[in-house]
Amino acid sequence: MCGIVGYVGMQDVTDVLIDGLQHLEYRGYDSAGIAVFEEGEIRVVKSRGRLTDLIQRMEEEGKPSGTCGIGHTRWATHGEPSDVNSHPHGNESISIVHNGIIENYMAVKAFLEEKGYVFESQTDTETIAKLLDYYYTGDPLKAIRSVLAKIHGSYALGIIFRDFPGKIFATRKDSPLIVGVGKGENFIASDVPAILKYTRDYYLLEQDEIAELTADSVTITDVNGDILSKELMTADWDMEAAEKGGYPHFMIKEINEQPTAIVNTISPRIEDGVPHFHLPNLPDDTFGRFKSVQIVACGTAMHAGMIGKYLIERMARLPVNVEIASEFRYRDLLLDKDDLVIVISQSGETADSLAALRAAKEVGAHTLAVVNVVGSSIAREADDVIYTYAGLEISVASTKAYTVQVAVMYLLAIKFALARGRMTEQESAEFCRTLFDISKSMEAMLKDTHECQYYASKFQNAHSLFFIGRGLDYALSLEGSLKLKEISYIHSEAYAAGELKHGTISLISQDVPVIAVATQTRIYEKTISNVKEVRARGAKVLLICKQDAVVDPEVADYILRIPVYDDIFMPLMTIVPLQLFAYYTTILRGCDVDKPRNLAKSVTVE
Ligand code: M6R
Repeated sequence: MCGIVGYVGMQDVTDVLIDGLQHLEYRGYDSAGIAVFEEGEIRVVKSRGRLTDLIQRMEEEGKPSGTCGIGHTRWATHGEPSDVNSHPHGNESISIVHNGIIENYMAVKAFLEEKGYVFESQTDTETIAKLLDYYYTGDPLKAIRSVLAKIHGSYALGIIFRDFPGKIFATRKDSPLIVGVGKGENFIASDVPAILKYTRDYYLLEQDEIAELTADSVTITDVNGDILSKELMTADWDMEAAEKGGYPHFMIKEINEQPTAIVNTISPRIEDGVPHFHLPNLPDDTFGRFKSVQIVACGTAMHAGMIGKYLIERMARLPVNVEIASEFRYRDLLLDKDDLVIVISQSGETADSLAALRAAKEVGAHTLAVVNVVGSSIAREADDVIYTYAGLEISVASTKAYTVQVAVMYLLAIKFALARGRMTEQESAEFCRTLFDISKSMEAMLKDTHECQYYASKFQNAHSLFFIGRGLDYALSLEGSLKLKEISYIHSEAYAAGELKHGTISLISQDVPVIAVATQTRIYEKTISNVKEVRARGAKVLLICKQDAVVDPEVADYILRIPVYDDIFMPLMTIVPLQLFAYYTTILRGCDVDKPRNLAKSVTVE
């Protein structure tokens, strides 16, 4: 995730910016840069790579000297990690740094190109810089407001104008930004750790408020230009807590980031209610040409693929096979150019998934990567790539990366359904609206985690546990089970509910509890029958079902009810309690949540 820091005061600005950016390194980045007022001019230094690369570049080119400037660490979203795509962007009179995603940047770019602007980078940020230049006639606030009226999406912006040395402007929407208040110095930052060394006092900028900072003053105005009097906050976190945004662990922070991650991932792809991917080798009108889809991935990413299979088959009536990459890569592949192979990977570097991608290419299948890390090996080698915009995921247990992979599966399912005449554009628009609505329900759900904490306390001492479900609930059970076992070290298995009786039910006893996921109305009664079977063998049961499900109180020991959506949408809602259950069980057992034993975030060996 990108990081922003800005400083105006008496200290050497370059030192303060680099120091602040170093404290944002944990967020992940692939390039960095600063823009500093030096003798009345804006001087920009930026570099692909780590902050050490930026420092080295400054050693070569001369360290910028001044007392006011802005800095940025970029986590690539639009365009590869490169010098030219690094922030700041702008020209000799305006310089900006940006976090977030501008959804309509293509339209804004076209508008500016018509006016004669030429673009150098592949970023959405450059469109903001050029739009600012277009509107700027000497009044920064007016220009900023004009820009805000024209752009859609999420943004936190730090801006400097050559005409206003010693001043920083900042604004935000759906991407955090704070204004740090010191003595004779002020700051902007995307996150508290960047400024904690200098001050603990800060203002929280709200949506579309604009801050104007000098060394001695901070003025914050609303969209109408009215000056606001805001509450000064005090950060009482230590550096470690600050990096986790005040949460005790990255995992729970990332679980809470899911609603935003979903919106960031889907909204840039939905135009007039229809998903568009703008893939160079897979134009929108060619989605109808495939006779089958093969999804390949590992672990959690594979579980997202399982959801994809159910969605695409149900919505588009297109056959989908899902396979673990380590198996797929050594199989005799019966695929050709009429088959689409989708490789899902958070890191884009998983060795088995990369090998599977290469194997698919070798037999001539069209390959599409769904990847979180821009410029990663899988993203580079696939014929086409759809990036998920989850931001950096630090916790080894994948949560938000999974959810956005699932969100992309929904968009792909719509795309195939439209291409195969199984859905109208009107239905697509309705479907997309529901996805946005779900992100809001998810947000509400995350506000109260007490129930999940309670169930975790009831199951924390189990030695072995089963998750059961059918259809989409089975796919979800696989992920719920993986989450629990990888961090709590409780042995757990996910089973298709109807399959238990073919052998595995002999393991069920009063010491082996069962979590039954039953959100699919069509097969609800079938799953309940399986629940009765395990209950009859003494298992303690937690039933996860829809809010409005009719449940015989005798069926389960505990019932967790989820807000109601059409069956097809339930995975996005149901995943949250499963993640929370794993998280709280792990806390109660005193295990290391973010760094479970024997595991690495990215598995780059076979
Ligand atoms: O980076 P990838 O998505 O390719 O990683 C695949 C798996 O190693 C990963 O999803 C793993 O299962 C999760 N970290 C588990 O939470």
